[in-house]
Amino acid sequence: MPTQRITTAADAAAILRRGGLVAFPTETVFGLGVDATNPAAVERLFQAKGRPSDNPLIVHVAGVEDWPLAAAALPDSAAKLMAAYSPGPLTVVLPRRAEIAPRVSAGLDTVGLRVPRHPFAQEMLRLAGVPIAAPSANRSGRPSCTTWRSVLEDLDGRIDAVVCRDADGCGIESTVVDCTTEPPTLLRPGAVTLEDLRRIAPGTRPAGDVSPGAVRSPGLAHPHYQPRAKVVLVDAPPTAEELQGREAAYCGIGASDQAIAPSSPLSFVRHYADENEYAAGFYEFLREADRRGSPIIYVQLASENGIGAALRDRQRRAAGVQ
Ligand code: TXA
Ligand code: MG
Repeated sequence: MPTQRITTAADAAAILRRGGLVAFPTETVFGLGVDATNPAAVERLFQAKGRPSDNPLIVHVAGVEDWPLAAAALPDSAAKLMAAYSPGPLTVVLPRRAEIAPRVSAGLDTVGLRVPRHPFAQEMLRLAGVPIAAPSANRSGRPSCTTWRSVLEDLDGRIDAVVCRDADGCGIESTVVDCTTEPPTLLRPGAVTLEDLRRIAPGTRPAGDVSPGAVRSPGLAHPHYQPRAKVVLVDAPPTAEELQGREAAYCGIGASDQAIAPSSPLSFVRHYADENEYAAGFYEFLREADRRGSPIIYVQLASENGIGAALRDRQRRAAGVQ
C-alpha cells in the first residue's frame, strides 16, 4: 500500500475515521494511530508493526474531560495525576470501556489513556472525535521514531499515511502508571518522574517493588528499542586501546564532540549538553548509527535522576539488559 505524505490535522483525522493507519507526531515519540473502536483497523495495526498480540496499546484523546471515550471509571488517583500532568507525557491505566476493541487492551480489563500535549496531535484528536489507539510508530522491537523520515524507514508501504512534521519534546515515551491499584504502580518511567507522581499520589510504587505476578503490563517483557548494531553501555567514551581499531559509534553527555581524539576509530560521535537533550536525541542517534553501518554503539549510561531514569531504562533495553 502506498503511504501518503500528509501535513494537515484534517487529513489525518479523515483517514483515521475511515479506519486508516496514520503516523503522527507527539511531544514524546511518533504514534501510529488507529480508531480504537474499530476492531478490523486495530488488527491491521498489529500486522503493520509486527507487534506481539499480548502487548496492549495506549488510547489517546484530545482532553482530560474525554476520558469516558476510553475508560469505564476514573479512580481518584488518576483524576489527580491527570489534573497535574495532562495534557503531557503521562499515561494512566484505567478500567476499560466496553466499546474499546478488546485487542487494544490485549485481553486485559484495563486501558491505558493519554492526552498528548503536541498541538498537531491535539487538533487531530479533536477532529477525529473517536478515541485513537497509538503505539509508537516503529517496527516492533526497533527504537522509537522522533522524525517522520525514520517512521518511513520502518513503515513505508505498511501504513496509510505519515504526517510530515517531526515530534518535538522530551523524546522518550510517556510515563505509564497503573491507577487501578492502590497505591498506583509505575509501569514505565518517563518525563513525569516517580517523584512527580508521588507529589500528587503519595506511595506510588515502581513496578519492581511489586511481586512479579501482580504486575499487569505483559508487553514489558518483549525486546524493545534495539538498533541493528550491538549496544554497549559505558560510563565514558571507549579508549583507542579498548576499541582495538574496531569501528564504533558513541553517544553521551559532554561539552563538544571535539573531546574525542582525531585518531580515535570512533566513526560517529554525539555529545549532548544535558540529559534532556540526550533523551530527545537518543533514538535518532541509534537509527543514524545504523544508517552509517556502525557495528557497535557505545552508549554512556544516564543518571537515575529526573529524565535520566527514563533514558537509562531505554538504554538498558536497547542493550538487551532489563
Ligand atoms: O509516549 C507514548 O506513550 C507513545 C506515544 C505515541 O503516545 N506511545 C507508546 O506506545 O509508547 P507503546 O505501544 O510503544 O507503549 C505502550 C506501553 C507498553 O509498555 C504497554 O505494555 C503499556 O504501555 N500499556 C498500554 N496499555 C496498558 C494496560 N492496559 N495495562 C498495562 N500496560 C499498558
Ligand atoms: Mg513502543
